[in-house]
Amino acid sequence: MSTRPIGIFDSGVGGTSILKEIHALLPNENCIYLADSKNAPYGNKSKNEIIDLSIKNTELLLSRGCKIIVVACNTATTNAIAHLRATYKVSFIGIEPAIKPAALNTQTKTVGILATKGTLSSELFHETSDLYAHNINVIEQDGDGIVPLIESGKLDTSEMKTLLESYINPMIERNIDHLVLGCTHYPYLIPILREILPENVNIIDSGLAVARQTKAVLAKENSLNSSDEEGTVDLFTNGNIAILNSLLDPKFGTSSLEF
Ligand code: DGL
Repeated sequence: MSTRPIGIFDSGVGGTSILKEIHALLPNENCIYLADSKNAPYGNKSKNEIIDLSIKNTELLLSRGCKIIVVACNTATTNAIAHLRATYKVSFIGIEPAIKPAALNTQTKTVGILATKGTLSSELFHETSDLYAHNINVIEQDGDGIVPLIESGKLDTSEMKTLLESYINPMIERNIDHLVLGCTHYPYLIPILREILPENVNIIDSGLAVARQTKAVLAKENSLNSSDEEGTVDLFTNGNIAILNSLLDPKFGTSSLEF
């Protein structure tokens, strides 16, 4: 049993899609979330820069006593998690584009992946893709520009819809039946994506799988919080608090922090 918090970080507000899954599955756990919005997007940065930023976020979460770290960012996971695991004793949970279920279930043998440049160019993504999707067509699309729009509060705008159409329509023309969301900011786009995509296209997002994996690792380490009370959720941002709060239940507390 451990009341110590679960630490979660992302390049910005997107990882709150994972925080919500974790809080829904493990409501008694205390959570600390870091939104490194000042440095978003990570997706166009070099591997070394992404590693340095991931170290900074990890150290801050560890200084606040976190018992496990959830890297709620595909870009940071695919570029930095191996380094983090080799450096710190604490367990890390990561998130990668869920290419395996898409590859296993596709009927048209064609799936689309929307992710950042940093994720699509990573070794880890190539390894997973080669392993599970070598016999199907995978249309990889860099979601350039999406994260900056979300980070500036322009989620539900015509500018966003036009950008998404430019990325998704070529995939529809090639008959995808699965679209893998390879960035934790993208689940917030699902209502717009559903307007663009034909009904037969499944959208795949790995948020729930990350929450389940977090629970399994905490159980194995005997560090689940067995309190009966709802856990606290503390959010820290070095960017715009109002934009972060617009995605969250108002009962959660957000503070500004330099990091
Ligand atoms: N949420 C991050 C991810 O999952 C966004 C990356 C970025 O900041 O470019 O990849």
